[in-house]
Amino acid sequence: MTTTRPANTRPLLFWRSFHPRLAAAELTDFSLAGALLGSEQGAVRAALPVRRAEFTAGRHCARVALASLGVPSRVIGVGPAREPLWPARFTGSITHTSSYAAAVVGSGDEILALGIDVEPIGSLTPDLWEAVLTPTEIQRFRASPLGPALAAAIAFSAKECLHKALFPATGVMLDFHDAEVVPAPAGTWQARIASVPRGWLADSLHGRWQLCAGLLLCGLVVPCPVTLDDDGPARAFR
Ligand SMILES: CC(C)(COP(=O)(O)OP(=O)(O)OC[C@H]1O[C@@H](n2cnc3c(N)ncnc32)[C@H](O)[C@@H]1OP(=O)(O)O)[C@@H](O)C(=O)NCCC(=O)NCCS
Repeated sequence: MTTTRPANTRPLLFWRSFHPRLAAAELTDFSLAGALLGSEQGAVRAALPVRRAEFTAGRHCARVALASLGVPSRVIGVGPAREPLWPARFTGSITHTSSYAAAVVGSGDEILALGIDVEPIGSLTPDLWEAVLTPTEIQRFRASPLGPALAAAIAFSAKECLHKALFPATGVMLDFHDAEVVPAPAGTWQARIASVPRGWLADSLHGRWQLCAGLLLCGLVVPCPVTLDDDGPARAFR
């Protein structure tokens, strides 16, 4: 079956396309990453080299992205649930594979929450579907115009994005079965969250996906309300 798939643009363009004032940075050659700073070193001191390398690449991307927003190089700590601790008034998200890392950062005055995720294509094998997809999703994806494997991979990656966006904003840790994702061939996805975390009004959130250079890219950005009285964004965030 022929499907419509989003154009194969560069990952960095995809990350930047979510919001005009988002800063994004990526790294494919991890040997070019700058050194870890302060407490970051302790966070991965006992880790395997591959984990140290991806952590260092992610921190490097985060600092490059922050620098383009005028933030001087600084420690980006690690929170109790592994979340990056961004400078005050900024929010962001980090993702990496063993050979690709990216960070997207925005001003907290403009961006309420954001989550990005990269998965190597084919990494979500069918034996993992039951753990990360609901029975409804599995049934629906069997008839998806994207094909079951791609639909399942997008749903998984979208849920990682939801976690990265919602946890720092709400402190709530969602289970994979708390959300259902509907991916669309045009490069969008919609997630419905069964139990809406406290402080989060929306039970429906929208993101986008893209296939690029052997990777599945997924992202979700929730902009701030324009004013406190504005009706639209209030539907997305309390
Ligand atoms: C944490 C998790 C999302 C990481 O995803 P991943 O695909 O394995 O790895 P990625 O490279 O894409 O992302 C890792 C980065 O996510 C960020 N991250 C980790 N935990 C986070 C959290 N609680 N909040 C925000 N960002 C987080 C970190 O920056 C991390 O990189 P670092 O440790 O080097 O700083 C995943 O391992 C996990 O625990 N998922 C379970 C929770 C979940 O997704 N629930 C579904 C909700 S519907």
